Amino acid sequence: MYRSHNCGALRISDVNTSVTLSGWVQKSRDLGGMTFVDLRDRYGITQLVFNMETQEDLCLLARKLGREFVIKVEGIVRERSSKNANRATGDIEIEVSKLDVLNAAQVPPFTIEEDTDGGEDIRMKYRYLDLRRGPLQRNIMFRSKLAIETRKYLDSLSFVEVETPVLIKSTPEGARDFIVPSRMNPGQAYALPQSPQTFKQILMISGYDRYFQIVKCFRDEDLRADRQPEFTQIDCEMSFVTQEDILNTFEGLTKHLFKTLKGIELSDFPRMSYDDAMAQYGSDKPDLRFGMKFIDLNEMKGHDFPVFDNAEFVVGINAEGAADQFSNKDIKKLTEWMQRPQVGAKGLVYIKYGQDGSVKSSVGKFYSEEFLKGLLDAKGAKPGDMMLILCGETEKTRKQLNELRLEMGNRLGLIKEGDFKPLWVVDFPLLEWDEESERFHAMHHPFTSPKKEDVERMLNGDHETMKALRADAYDLVINGSEIGGGSIRIHDRDLQSRNFDLLGFTKTEAEEQFGFLLGAFEYGAPPHGGIAFGFDRLCAVLNNQSSIRDFIAFPKNNQGRDMMIDAPSRLDIQQLEDLALESTASAD
Ligand code: AMO
Repeated sequence: MYRSHNCGALRISDVNTSVTLSGWVQKSRDLGGMTFVDLRDRYGITQLVFNMETQEDLCLLARKLGREFVIKVEGIVRERSSKNANRATGDIEIEVSKLDVLNAAQVPPFTIEEDTDGGEDIRMKYRYLDLRRGPLQRNIMFRSKLAIETRKYLDSLSFVEVETPVLIKSTPEGARDFIVPSRMNPGQAYALPQSPQTFKQILMISGYDRYFQIVKCFRDEDLRADRQPEFTQIDCEMSFVTQEDILNTFEGLTKHLFKTLKGIELSDFPRMSYDDAMAQYGSDKPDLRFGMKFIDLNEMKGHDFPVFDNAEFVVGINAEGAADQFSNKDIKKLTEWMQRPQVGAKGLVYIKYGQDGSVKSSVGKFYSEEFLKGLLDAKGAKPGDMMLILCGETEKTRKQLNELRLEMGNRLGLIKEGDFKPLWVVDFPLLEWDEESERFHAMHHPFTSPKKEDVERMLNGDHETMKALRADAYDLVINGSEIGGGSIRIHDRDLQSRNFDLLGFTKTEAEEQFGFLLGAFEYGAPPHGGIAFGFDRLCAVLNNQSSIRDFIAFPKNNQGRDMMIDAPSRLDIQQLEDLALESTASAD
C-alpha cells in the first residue's frame, strides 16, 4: 500500500492514527535534533518529523532526501506544538517510523513553489515540473471543473455531445490552416479544423437539434497572450432558434459557470451594437469595467488649428481627476507611447481643467480659454479632469483612442480586481471590405446569415449596398476579452452561393470546398445558429488573468513550439518519401 491518506487530508481529529503517505519532498529542514520534511502531493503538504534521539538511522536517511525525491513514509499523526494556520494540515505532523525512497530526483532547475525563480523558457522545457506548482495545479484543476460544469449544464438542456473529425478539409475562420499530408493519397492533404463549423451545421441538418462539443481547434496565426495555435472551444449549435434564443441560452450558461465556479451572481448582460461599440469605445470588445466613453470633438475644427481642421475626425476621452496626476513630462511620455508604431498616433492633445476652474491646453494658443472651458463643461468634464484628444481618419483614430483609453484605465487604477462586466456585442456587419485585396471578407465567417430584412438587398443589391448589410452575429465580451462568437447561419443554398460569390469564390471553388454543405442544404436544412466560446479564455477571465497559457497543460510558446517535446521537428527521409514530400527534402 502506498498510502492511507493523501498529503492534504489529515487533521487534529486524526491524532494518534497510524498512517502511510506518499509524495514528493517539497523541502527539508535539519534542526540538529530534529529533521522536518514537507511532503507534497496534489492535495496538499504534510509535515514529517524525524527525531535524531529516538531514530538516528531514519533521521540520517531523511537528511539525505533532496528536493522532489519521491518517498513513502509510515508513522503516527501527532499534534504540532507550533501550528501553521496557513495550511489545512497545519495542526498536525507525522512522527515517521519508516521511510522508503521510491525514486530519487535531480535538483530541479527552478524552485517548485508558489512563486518560482524559473524563467519562461526553462519552465516550458520542464513543463512537468512547472505543472507541479500550486498556481498551475489550481488552474488545471479549475479547467477540469469548468469542463465538467459546462457538460452538466448543457446536458440538462438536452444538448448532445458529438465528436467531429480532426482530419478534414479547410473550414475558413480567417486564419491559415495546419496541414496534414496524406500517405494514402499522395500529393493530397487534410486540414486540421479551425473550428467544427460545417460539421455542426450538418448535424443540425441531420436533426440533432442541440449539439455541443468541448473541442480542439487549430489556427496557424500569430500568437499573443490570448491566442494559441491549438486551443479549445465550447462549440454549440441549435436548430429552430433566433438570435434571441441563443443569447439567452448562453447567457444562462455563463451565469451558471460564474455562480458554480466562483460564487458570483452576474446580472443580465447588456447589449451594444457593433456600431455603438466602435463609436463609443473604438473596439468591438469594449472593457466596461470603467467609463471614459469617446467624446466627439468635431466642433474643435474650424478654429484655425490646421491639424484639427484638416482631420476627418476629432475625438477625445475625459480622464476624471487626472489633471494633477499628469505633469507635462508624463504627458510627453504618454504622447511618445501613443506614437509607437504599435499604436501609430501622430500626436496627442490635452486640455486640463484645473481645480480652480482654469484651463490649460497644449493647443491653448489656437483656442480661447473661454471656448475650451465651454467645451469642457458641455462635454461633462469637471474641475480636476483632463481631456485627451486625437484626430485623423475616423477608423484609425478610434482604434488609437481605444489603446489610450485602456492605458488610462490601467494607469488611473480604474479596474477593480474581481469586477466582471460581460457584454453582448450584436449587429455586426456581414461583410468587411478589404482595400488591399479589393475583396470582401466575411466579418464572422462565410456561413453567417444576413439579417432577415437585409436578405433581399444581399441577393440583388450593388457593391455599396453590401457594405451596409448587417448580420445576426454576436460576440460575448467579458472585461474587454472576446470570450465567444457566433451567428445565425444561412440555411438556403442560393443565399449561401451568393455569399460565396461576394467573398470572391468562383462557382467551381465554392463547389469544390463546400459542395457537401450546399448539397445538404437541399435536403431539408432547418433554420439554425450557434456560438463557440474560447474555453481557454473563459478559464483565464474567470480567474482575472489575461494570458491563457497557464490554463493549458502543455501550451506552445510564441514561436508555436512545444519546448518540452521539441515540436515541430524535421521529418526523416523515409517519412518524406512515404508522404510524397521528397521535393521538400531535396529543396532543403
Ligand atoms: P470564432 O472564430 O469567433 O468563432 O471563435 C470562437 C472563440 O474562440 C476563441 N478563439 C481563440 N482562443 C485561443 N486561441 C485562439 N487562437 C483563438 N481563436 C479564437 C475566442 C473566440 O471568441 N465557428 C465559429 C463559432 C460560431 O460561429 O459558432 C468560431 O470559431 O474566444
